[in-house]
Amino acid sequence: MLINMLKHLQGMQIDRPNETPNIFPGNWDVVTQELLKTYEAWFKQNWGPVELPWDELNRENFDQDQAVAQAYWMAKLALFEKSGIGAFSLATLQAARYNMEDPTKKFLAGVTYDECRHDEICRRACNRLCPGFPYKFKPKTTLEEKALRNIQVLYDNGKRYWSAFEKVWEKYPLELIFSSFFFAEIGAQLIFKTVAEKSRLSVYTQAFNNITKDESRHLAGTLALLDRLAKEMPKEHKLMITRQMKHGFIYLSPLLFKPMPEFWKLPDDFLEWDQRLEEKAYEAGLGVPTAEEKAERWYKAIEQHRKKLESLEVPVPAIKEVGVDGVDVPVKKGDNIVATPL
Ligand SMILES: [Fe+2]
Ligand SMILES: [Fe+2]
Repeated sequence: MLINMLKHLQGMQIDRPNETPNIFPGNWDVVTQELLKTYEAWFKQNWGPVELPWDELNRENFDQDQAVAQAYWMAKLALFEKSGIGAFSLATLQAARYNMEDPTKKFLAGVTYDECRHDEICRRACNRLCPGFPYKFKPKTTLEEKALRNIQVLYDNGKRYWSAFEKVWEKYPLELIFSSFFFAEIGAQLIFKTVAEKSRLSVYTQAFNNITKDESRHLAGTLALLDRLAKEMPKEHKLMITRQMKHGFIYLSPLLFKPMPEFWKLPDDFLEWDQRLEEKAYEAGLGVPTAEEKAERWYKAIEQHRKKLESLEVPVPAIKEVGVDGVDVPVKKGDNIVATPL
């Protein structure tokens, strides 16, 4: 029955009011105190990527393979940071156009700024370690060639993600899109905390501790959004949140697990080179988790939130790849993925 409902929802369209949405007159309503509190915390937790000890990433401190491997992981992370900038800025605009309460708009604008800050960490690291990587980089060795090829192919897939994400706003209720933001934040918090703990260079430890703080705030805010919106939601919409959680797992998989073929169209040797590069990056001092650690952390992160989700009657999807039990969400190869990024 749940599967039928999910299938039905995939073709669901929504009615929007006839009036063209507008950011004016706006409002200063504060309905969700928790969201306001989360937004206010942003000011206290502000930090700057320029203040980190970047000299540690001097090119001469690493051999060429180690340098390109670190740049590779940072460029892979940047895919999700870039989609974060796009998705949250679009969400900020929509929140204003559809007159959502004031802290929703400001919280989302804060998240957008954070995503820029995270992408800036990636840009600076690549620039120091491997100037020009990935956009203007000319590979000289097989490892460099494969690193660049992997990133290019990921970014190419990213285009498909983004086209679908832009279309989602005409297709689904706003509340539904906003209430699904939390899932990527669960993943984000988990990966960055692990990277900070495992890194052996203080530029990375500091950067990822700061990013973890941002992600914890994102998680608190998006859970407040979920809490507020899910209470008034029909059962079918709650199942759509379940579906989007599964999509989120698939979308984030190249960074947080192993690329899932339901969405990611990658060359056969993608994973082999990806793993080799991640191991090299770790050897150089960047705390990239192993495949086992990623699976184990995902499991823990989802289970930590199961009670909360179930109390809102939002079923957890089955994600058997990391041992999570729940509702079976069928995703076919080539389906559009509707998920929010880190
Ligand atoms: Fe981010
Ligand atoms: Fe985030």
